[in-house]
Amino acid sequence: MVYTITLLAGDGIGPEVIDATLQVLDATGVDFDWDEQTAGMAAYETGGDPLPEAVIESIRRNKVALKGPLTTPVGTGFRSANVQLRQTLDLYANVRPCVSLPNTRARYEDIDLLIFRENTEGLYAGIEYFDARNQIADSINRITRTGSERIIKFAFEQATQMDRERLTLVHKANILKETGGMFLGIGREIAPDYPDLTFDDRIVDNMAMQLVVYPERYDCIVTTNLFGDILSDLAAGLVGGLGVTGGANIGDEYAVFEAVHGSAPDIAGQGKANPTAMIRSAEMMLRYLGEKDAANAVRTAIFEVYAEGEHLTADLGGSASTSEFAQHLASTVASTIAA
Ligand code: NAI
Ligand code: MG
Repeated sequence: MVYTITLLAGDGIGPEVIDATLQVLDATGVDFDWDEQTAGMAAYETGGDPLPEAVIESIRRNKVALKGPLTTPVGTGFRSANVQLRQTLDLYANVRPCVSLPNTRARYEDIDLLIFRENTEGLYAGIEYFDARNQIADSINRITRTGSERIIKFAFEQATQMDRERLTLVHKANILKETGGMFLGIGREIAPDYPDLTFDDRIVDNMAMQLVVYPERYDCIVTTNLFGDILSDLAAGLVGGLGVTGGANIGDEYAVFEAVHGSAPDIAGQGKANPTAMIRSAEMMLRYLGEKDAANAVRTAIFEVYAEGEHLTADLGGSASTSEFAQHLASTVASTIAA
């Protein structure tokens, strides 16, 4: 069995962490045929389009993509190719696990949070207006029943399948009565169908505080696009930072696996990036493909390498380069599989 997968190396640290990830995937023995495509700033600079049609066609053909981060200009310039990709392919569920690893110098040791972020609408719907004469700017927070039902059901289903105990819906329904109110209401409608899961809700600002002070009290979170974006970086910070948290964008037909982090221009091209986040995304891809043994081997090897603590990258206080870490992890994966 050979899997044909779309590969987007991405911008900034993307090519470095993707290289490292391919090395680790290679060690699993699973066969991949990579359909390499270019998006983001790299595609914009060469062809004027950050999300060329060829990229979409490739993912439609292959159904699955492994993706490095794509740079988006801040405040001006083209719309995020990441957001466009998620909307075009209807990848409505952004799944972001935040799990403690040994030796990360994180504040906590036993965090196991699973965030489900709505990925196609909310404030990222792209409905924006600027009235230049009056200097008034609007970004519309578009929430739909269909969009809310599918992400909330997805979260309940996944949480159930993964034997989790509790799902917390995060919102701002005290102020955003229409959008937040509908999202929360739909959560309450669906919850009785899943009596084995404890369902509750939190207002997002309180949730941010609770996650910093009592993260162990939480299990799974489902929330709208912007809140999920912010809380998943916060949760990454609880377990060692953006260098260690992987993610997946899942729809009914396609899936794109990418880390929570961006292109990290401040450290790009220096061999400093921690590829663990990208590798954990690839681990999620292996699981999605049904390659459970390979996924487990990657996970086991990551925990082993972190527990040993000798080959960690600079973000975690180590001195290994991206490729040194990858080489060490790849050989640990290979021996885990051989054992
Ligand atoms: P960022 O996630 O790229 O970086 C934030 C901080 O975390 C930086 O100090 C960076 O050095 C560090 N960091 C991130 N990943 C790391 C890793 N693997 N190892 C070690 N340190 C790491 O966020 P920022 O700086 O806000 O955004 C940079 C660019 O990335 C922007 O153009 C943004 O639009 C884009 N971006 C793309 C995403 C995607 O492709 N899914 C997601 C988030 C941002
Ligand atoms: Mg983000």
